[in-house]
Amino acid sequence: MPFISLSRIYRFSAAHRLHSVALNEQENRQIFDKCNNPYGHGHDYTMELTVTGQPDTDTGMIIPLPRLDKIVNDFLILLEHKHLDREVSYFKDKTSTGENIVRFLWQELESRLPDGILYHIRLWETNNNYFDMGKEL
Ligand code: NI
Repeated sequence: MPFISLSRIYRFSAAHRLHSVALNEQENRQIFDKCNNPYGHGHDYTMELTVTGQPDTDTGMIIPLPRLDKIVNDFLILLEHKHLDREVSYFKDKTSTGENIVRFLWQELESRLPDGILYHIRLWETNNNYFDMGKEL
């Protein structure tokens, strides 16, 4: 079935360290290499967010952009310029890999957005890698 979607790009910056509590120091260094640096490092993350749904008959929109921006920005401010592992409780016991961050973004945004419209999130960590989470077609 054809569908209509709306995608919008958001950015936030945050610090993290790749380190798993399930692994010992040597394993952490081997697996995560320089990303295991004890002092951490930062990324300028870019999030591409896609919502789908029937456009409202009065507004012609799936969700008004100002409303979407408010929902997303009110959430992203919780991550902005934070050290994810130290300041965001979700990552206290989960390594802040792109996979886990995109899962966290999905969980949080799905609960804040109108029911069922969240369709896809792409999280760019660097210019060379991104992580996707989305609904099955
Ligand atoms: Ni990193």
